Amino acid sequence: MCGIVGYVGERDAGPVLLDCLKRLEYRGYDSAGVGVIQEGRLELRRSAGKILELERVMEQRPLHGRAGIAHTRWATHGRPSAANAHPHSDCASSLAVVHNGIIENHRSLRRALESQGHRFGSETDTEVIPHLIESRRGSIEAATQEAVQELEGDYALGIISRREPEKLVAVRSGGPPLSVGFAPDGFFLTSDASAILPYTREVLSLEEGEMAVLSREGVRLVTFGGRAVDRPPTRVPWDAETAQKGGFPHFMLKEIWEQPRAIRDTWGGRVDLEAGEVRLAELGLEGEALARVRRIVLVACGTSWHASLVGKHVLESLCRIPVEVDVASEYRYRSPIVDPWTLTIAISQSGETADTLGAVRESRARQSMVVAICNVVGSTLAREADGVLYTHAGPEIGVASTKAFTTQLVALDLLAIHMARAKGTLSPEAARTLLHELAEIPCLVEDMLGRAEGLRDLGAALRSSRSVLYLGRGIQYPLALEGALKLKEISYIHAEGYPAGEMKHGPIALIDRAVPVVAIAPQGRLYEKTLSNIEEVRARDGRVIALASEDDREIAGKADHVFRLPRTSELLMPILTAVPLQLLAYYAAVLRGCDVDQPRNLAKSVTVE
Ligand code: F6R
Repeated sequence: MCGIVGYVGERDAGPVLLDCLKRLEYRGYDSAGVGVIQEGRLELRRSAGKILELERVMEQRPLHGRAGIAHTRWATHGRPSAANAHPHSDCASSLAVVHNGIIENHRSLRRALESQGHRFGSETDTEVIPHLIESRRGSIEAATQEAVQELEGDYALGIISRREPEKLVAVRSGGPPLSVGFAPDGFFLTSDASAILPYTREVLSLEEGEMAVLSREGVRLVTFGGRAVDRPPTRVPWDAETAQKGGFPHFMLKEIWEQPRAIRDTWGGRVDLEAGEVRLAELGLEGEALARVRRIVLVACGTSWHASLVGKHVLESLCRIPVEVDVASEYRYRSPIVDPWTLTIAISQSGETADTLGAVRESRARQSMVVAICNVVGSTLAREADGVLYTHAGPEIGVASTKAFTTQLVALDLLAIHMARAKGTLSPEAARTLLHELAEIPCLVEDMLGRAEGLRDLGAALRSSRSVLYLGRGIQYPLALEGALKLKEISYIHAEGYPAGEMKHGPIALIDRAVPVVAIAPQGRLYEKTLSNIEEVRARDGRVIALASEDDREIAGKADHVFRLPRTSELLMPILTAVPLQLLAYYAAVLRGCDVDQPRNLAKSVTVE
């Protein structure tokens, strides 16, 4: 959600910032801007639209200097336009600010500043910040330190000033992440390490309430109160190559194809196949801590919430512990019943989702132990949780979550087997069987990817639909939700996911030739029931695309199109059904000419409420 980058050092800041900004574009892409101190003046270039537009502006009016900041925006206050794009500056054009997050008291601050004579040029909440800093005395560092005392909300800031032309100030308060990168020829500021990977993999994440002062000589870290902080940088486990498209037309397709590797990496090193054991020492969820767990609450947003819904089935079935699942943005405001005997599991690809972090803080305030399932090492969620189970999906750049989802499912399976073995609700033989099946999943995914072309034709069958209904039952119901979310977010076709048995209570009214139904119907306990629901659709002239087991003979007579799924245990099946659903959405969107990696109105990491 918005991306920040900054640089000070030996290189020419203008081109370096533009280069980094391109790798950040997936975080927000409705407008962008760069600010550089050029020959003692503050120079800004801003434009509405994608970074390509900004690049055109910078081709005509290049920027050169040793220090600068840049931003790609996902609009919250004020529509996408050049005037609302960051950086924003003060009345004297002496300093500029890029901002990620929200300033909640911006209206009252703006009124006060306007009454003191400050003039504003945008509709954003951000613009109060440069004016507030302008109204304070002293160095840019001291003035910023005073100004942040007035700000309410969550924010990450990058600031430059022509009065101190080779300095950059970074501030973090609350959710939005911000890190400093240490390169041989300079220092970077970034909201996402993948933006600066070609220059350095050594990064230091700012904690809440910290400021960093970057100059050509080095980096100084202090708290808002002025106390010096000494913390070494850490090494990002990904290189620049992993964060590129690697010959695929879109990141989303590349990431779908990476799933066999990502799944292997997520269970690799954690499983003893012969003993039927899962080793998750990093969680601290053993002995007394585990014995205390009487109830589990899963909190997450979007696709990660869908993974949580699958997790409920797996955890309840293997561990025989009651599990509740909540959308994080609802959970945090409903005074949940949580106690020290409740284990909270927060799931998030980015580890920076504001609502999920809010839910975690709510749980912790009620003395619940918190475990995170997260993809980004060192993210805020990972740091705040008592224990972390990392998914090793690698960087996910496509806005639509794919490999993050399937690896979250794998992590949940591992966690459930680990807990069930420790609680004695799963025999070593049953654990061994499940783990052997899990070990086969990457090959089964590869098999389906090898048949992806068939899904292109099914995508073509969806491309002109007004609306699409996704049906699933039991553990496949969350997959119906996920399939529908994937389709709507990247193709803009309206889609809804429903428990198949619930269709007759209302949504059946939608069925006609123009509203295809995607039925997720692998063999399993509820197969016959799902088949009956498919018949109900057919009886109303509905068109059916079915995902069914490879040896299912009945389905061919009941569906217009069938995609065949390999066999695995019912609890693991969602990892397999996810893949054709992702590809179906991908092909439908590509055939409609949509921007798959950067769908309208969305951003990768939602760091505001
Ligand atoms: C959908 C999607 C979003 C995210 C959601 C949570 O494809 O990507 O729904 O799943 O914003 O993000 P994380 O997992 O980073 O907390």
